[in-house]
Amino acid sequence: MARFILTLIVGLALLTWAVSGVVQTTTREWFERDVTSRAQLVMTSARQSIADAWYAPTDLQRQLAAIARDERVIGVAACSADLTTRSSTPGFPDEFSCSAVGSRVRAAEVAAGGSSQTFRGWSATAALPTGRVYVTAMPVSAQGQVLGFAIMVHDLSYIERREEAAQTFLIIISAVLAVLAFGVPLLAAKSARSDWSRELRRLLHGGGKQKSEFQPILSDMRELLGRMASEREDAPGRWTAVRLKQTLNRYLHGEKVVILANREPYVHQYTADGKIEVQHPASGLVTALEPIMRACSGVWVAHGSGSADRDTVDGNDRVRVPPEEESYHIRRVWLSDEEQQGYYYGFANEGLWPLCHTAHARPVFRAGDWRQYRAVNQRFADVVCREVDSKDPIVLVQDYHFALAPEMIRERLPQATVIAFFHIPWPNSERMGICPWRNELLEGLLGSSILGFHTQLHCNNFLDSVDRFLETRRDREQNAVIMQGHRTLVRPYPISLEWPVHWVQSAPSVEECRAQVWRDLGLKPGALLGIGVDRLDYTKGVEERFQAVELLLERHPEFRGRFSFVQLAEPSRTKIERYQMLNDTVERLAERINLRFGAPDYKPIILLRSHHEPPEVFRFYRAADLCYVSSLHDGMNLVAKEFVAARTDMRGVLVLSEFTGAARELTEALIVNPYDLEGSSDALAAALMMPADEQQDRLRSMRSLLVQFNVYRWAGKMLVDAARLRNQERLAGRLAERANLGPALYS
Ligand code: F6P
Repeated sequence: MARFILTLIVGLALLTWAVSGVVQTTTREWFERDVTSRAQLVMTSARQSIADAWYAPTDLQRQLAAIARDERVIGVAACSADLTTRSSTPGFPDEFSCSAVGSRVRAAEVAAGGSSQTFRGWSATAALPTGRVYVTAMPVSAQGQVLGFAIMVHDLSYIERREEAAQTFLIIISAVLAVLAFGVPLLAAKSARSDWSRELRRLLHGGGKQKSEFQPILSDMRELLGRMASEREDAPGRWTAVRLKQTLNRYLHGEKVVILANREPYVHQYTADGKIEVQHPASGLVTALEPIMRACSGVWVAHGSGSADRDTVDGNDRVRVPPEEESYHIRRVWLSDEEQQGYYYGFANEGLWPLCHTAHARPVFRAGDWRQYRAVNQRFADVVCREVDSKDPIVLVQDYHFALAPEMIRERLPQATVIAFFHIPWPNSERMGICPWRNELLEGLLGSSILGFHTQLHCNNFLDSVDRFLETRRDREQNAVIMQGHRTLVRPYPISLEWPVHWVQSAPSVEECRAQVWRDLGLKPGALLGIGVDRLDYTKGVEERFQAVELLLERHPEFRGRFSFVQLAEPSRTKIERYQMLNDTVERLAERINLRFGAPDYKPIILLRSHHEPPEVFRFYRAADLCYVSSLHDGMNLVAKEFVAARTDMRGVLVLSEFTGAARELTEALIVNPYDLEGSSDALAAALMMPADEQQDRLRSMRSLLVQFNVYRWAGKMLVDAARLRNQERLAGRLAERANLGPALYS
């Protein structure tokens, strides 16, 4: 900028100099021409009166004085033909005496043809120490006889003074013009810039209404920030609730997120004595997402399933939670029995659940269930669209209950960032192919911007299904599917726990937990305890787990009377026959094993079939010697991670099914195939005999992984990917708009 201004000043100075040269020459010529014509006019008109007074010295003197009265005339002289001075005014310059000028007059007369009749006179400019002068000499004659000549000396120095004044004036005018030409626009630009930066800062800090002229620059700034976000958020370092919130605010401009999930994080239930209690449901989804919601605030749209739910909402079916904190809302949606039957029990849990889990339960697909599933997805999608507070909100659609919702939300809010996460496995394409509505499910999920699974294998299965059943384009480099110009990134995001887990922080010491559990279960002082924590679901391998315990006791008599396995089993989906059967089977199996190896004061299997609130669950985790997670197929399984998180004392062993997503991360667990009862019972024995330092090494390693790969990182990574995608879409959209090509360009 300074350089630009300097160049302008130098340029202007040169221009002024050139113009002033031209002005000087021109004005000088004008003035001189003016003076000479005036002088000649004066001399011509004075000639006769000089001739008349030629012989009367006093009159002649008066005549000359009259001519010299003009302030620009320095002096006048009358010269005889013999070049002597006849009369002159006072101060007539000696340099132009009659003799000095006379010779030149003669020469000029000769040059003009030598005729005194036709000779008009001589003139010249000359420089005196006092300044430039103009000298005019003209013949004076009377009655055809030449008497002599008159000389008049005109002052020209005033022309120089005027030139100087004109130059000064020109410089001042140029300077004023320069100030006006450069200064005013500079000042205006400076003030506009400060207005803009003030306005921009206000908008970036989220204040007030956006002016339309700021839209393009704001979009550019956001793109830039988004790119910076992507780079910055990829940086190593621990993810926390605060970092997640910052990511959301800075790079996605989200004041809040909207989560759509079937299960609500807080259920209001009436107790037997008519009081209302708040329950935390047994759900991995809730365990993972509730801390996200506490960190980000917003709305969780869910089915209101508790007996006291309707009595605890406001006029908009909302309730503020968590109870003591009230940092976000649950927006409850009420479902009729028919809707629940068709959507939740029917298509979601008798169709999709067994379809996606390789747990040998036959999926049931009823057209009526599918219709309810579609209608309920639409109802929830409509509620989500009413709950958002902008046209480009961030919506997290959770799980297999809402496979159609992403597309439905996108139809109403095309600019929304929909992040869908499938918490259960996605089967291979052959298996998915048996679902009569596989195409609709795939298309529904492809309405999202990002579709997450726990593992790469599940992503691959999904992409294979898309390839097999839909006409789409694959971007293999980005792991994206493009369907009708819309792009969906399909990526693995292994879910996890908050860190630190707040239930652990508020839990009693390990010694207290152990003492309490020992007391509650009536265990002997030297007893060993194993634990399982699950919804009673056939995918969890509870039967195989009990059988492995039975085999352990069979093959290792030293543990009989000493080792007990406590199963916290939350009854789940009990309206479905398969779940009722499971309840019975598990109960009978526990009874049989207890009968076989139990004693009046010893129970090998302790089956606690009821809801357990998190503080109780964590007390068991902290008391146990081992935890056995024996899922036959599981997306992630957060029980495994909770057990590791609970063991702040670095004691306890995790025995983990290889068919869980968690087994890919918690590799220091004793990994087993739950169908292999011998292998599993060996692992249980190894766990019970594992030296303390090995337990510590394994736990330390697994805990360090959970510290880094916590649920804030899980959500943060998805949000950062979403921000990146949003930027790409904005840029591509703008490009397409400019080229008037429509979204096809992007695809
Ligand atoms: O495993 C998938 C999942 O959605 C879990 O997140 C959750 O624990 C469970 O299934 C759902 O259970 P429910 O049917 O009781 O909501």
